[in-house]
Amino acid sequence: MVKTKIAVLVSGGGTNLQALLDAQARGDIRNGKITAVVSSTPGAFALERAKGANVPGHVVNRKDYDSRESFTEALLGKLSELNADLIVLAGFLYILSPAFVERYENRIINIHPALIPSFCGDGFYGLKVHEKALEYGVKLTGATVHFVSAEADAGPIILQKAVAIEEGDTAEILQKRVMEQAEWKLLPEAVSLFCQGRLHVEGRIVRIDQAE
Ligand code: GRF
Repeated sequence: MVKTKIAVLVSGGGTNLQALLDAQARGDIRNGKITAVVSSTPGAFALERAKGANVPGHVVNRKDYDSRESFTEALLGKLSELNADLIVLAGFLYILSPAFVERYENRIINIHPALIPSFCGDGFYGLKVHEKALEYGVKLTGATVHFVSAEADAGPIILQKAVAIEEGDTAEILQKRVMEQAEWKLLPEAVSLFCQGRLHVEGRIVRIDQAE
């Protein structure tokens, strides 16, 4: 079976990228290979992580484009040059245009640090997500891996994992717990399932084939 070529899109620190690279090194991304990391920011530490794992890093700098459309065009050009089969958004800060989403329908995976449909959509990114969860007083939060659709954080859900809120949590503490207990596990697992052809999207529902 030909391996799925994975391009990971990043904008920042890249701990989720690191989780993917570590999973790959352990042989846990079955039937897939991370062939490129594309950053929207030239100085992103994620590019160092890519280098450390001998994965080619590329930059499509958001600041070089004056609209979401022209930025998306440039990204699409880069990704087709890279022949990517699967796009993984791992801390990628920009909402992709409908044209992009259409081009890669059900082939773009995103990780969001909350249990969708809570604390998601426009304006819910980074620490804000955790601040809002704490403010609301929920007892459980978590992470969601989903396919990307034209609406932010609204595509079919692949995997979710709950994480408990604890007394004395700050947004920073909670962010770290959600990453350690949920995000860094779920994202490699979902990517591996995709690469094995075990995810089937039926409307909003993602069915997962059992392992053989
Ligand atoms: C993560 O919390 C992820 O869920 C969200 O952005 C953050 C990125 O962190 N989409 P990192 O760059 O992977 O460390």
